[in-house]
Amino acid sequence: RSLLKSDLRGDEIIVVSNREPYIHERTAEGQIKINRPASGLVTAVEPVMRACSGIWIAHGSGSADRDTVDKLDQVAVPPEDPSYQLKRVWLSEEEEAGYYFGFANEGLWPLCHIAHVRPVFRASDWEHYRAVNQRFADAVVSAARTEDPVVLVQDYHFALVPRMVREKLPRATIITFWHIPWPNSESFSICPWRSEIVDGLLGSTILGFHTPYHCKHFTETVDHLLEANIEQEHSTITYGGHQTLVKNYPISIAWPEGAMPPVEACRQELRERIGVGASHLIAIGVDRFDYTKGLIERVSAVAVMLERHPDMIGRFSLVQVAAPTRSSLEEYRTFHERMDKLVQDVNARFGQPGYQPVHLFATHHDAVTLQRYYRAADACMVTSLHDGMNLVCKEFIAARDDERGVLLLSRFAGAADELPDALIINPYSIEDTADALHEALTMSEAEQRDRMRSLRSTVQHNNVYLWAADMLVDAARTRLRERIEARI
Ligand code: F6P
Repeated sequence: RSLLKSDLRGDEIIVVSNREPYIHERTAEGQIKINRPASGLVTAVEPVMRACSGIWIAHGSGSADRDTVDKLDQVAVPPEDPSYQLKRVWLSEEEEAGYYFGFANEGLWPLCHIAHVRPVFRASDWEHYRAVNQRFADAVVSAARTEDPVVLVQDYHFALVPRMVREKLPRATIITFWHIPWPNSESFSICPWRSEIVDGLLGSTILGFHTPYHCKHFTETVDHLLEANIEQEHSTITYGGHQTLVKNYPISIAWPEGAMPPVEACRQELRERIGVGASHLIAIGVDRFDYTKGLIERVSAVAVMLERHPDMIGRFSLVQVAAPTRSSLEEYRTFHERMDKLVQDVNARFGQPGYQPVHLFATHHDAVTLQRYYRAADACMVTSLHDGMNLVCKEFIAARDDERGVLLLSRFAGAADELPDALIINPYSIEDTADALHEALTMSEAEQRDRMRSLRSTVQHNNVYLWAADMLVDAARTRLRERIEARI
């Protein structure tokens, strides 16, 4: 964290993201309640902002009650110890429908994740996407106090913001991070506005992805679409006289500080919640309720595992936390219904009085509760069909200072590159996932410890401050070089 502060040395930091880090809501009693959204982006960027200060510009989406929030257009956060400003951009329902639900989540989200959901591209959504990107770019420009702020643009909601900011603030250092995968150039080319998106991103000083693979796909996409100069050995792309460094920066979490609740208490609490005894085996899953997360495959693997190992019936349950997300989209509603139906079927097939093999908690859970659940579990299942990084696996690892518990991790999550000592699975193979689940539940304590020790040392070292510091060190080098060149 101190490394971060020294890298910045008083530079002005502006973050732009769709999701706000704090949601202000009015309770039935008229009080303002502050919630944290379920978002990997917020999990990662928030500790960095606490350390750096500055201003975070976000869509006031969660803080929907205008009467409550009008006074909260700009607030100092975190509430318990304010260290940066949260500035909200308010979007109309129409803008949100076109830009967020439409182009970002029915277009770019399925385009970039291989989950076999067909992207939808509507010209009207694209118009809203462009207009909303312009609104956020304008918000950055009016928030900037200097000519050369460091602007951190987050995610696929804002592909056009880097170019738009660069037009008004040519000396800004724009670091864009794409939190989801980038598909191969042929897949990407079905997007009618492919060149505009790539051009927008190349307004960045640095463009970050989670894995070298995503960087390679992006570079090949540029190669196919634009007349740009690509220098593989320096990982740079020069287009329209401007150079962008394209590099992988694997995102992470803040390593927890301070004492954690006793494992025994956590185990007892979760087992009481699902009405089972102390020796009951539990695998935990924690996700947004999203079709990319492999939830159907996970529950199907549980069913196959119980079928292959009937001695586990009555002794094992999956506890699946699924935070509601993007529920106004048809694809998400249908997915929710399919999942509910599958859980009912599996429970009807293997359940017994007082025993359910799958418990689906489809509500938002706070970070403190989730940490207790991670500590209570014998295994954690991350079965994403495709995922930029996935931070749930890192949170599970960080919660296990007892060096117990086994992680099952999809090879299609960016995290699999960094965490080979997890049980790496292919979620599309239900049988292999079922076998890996059984292996996890029967793994010796010694093997659990060895694997967990290795995973913990990786995540503790590759924490989110390193993620941010790596980008900021690269940015600082570029700023220095630009100052030197300006004098020549
Ligand atoms: O995974 C991509 C991502 O944008 C994350 O960065 C974020 O945690 C998640 O999707 C949340 O999605 P939404 O903001 O739509 O709820």
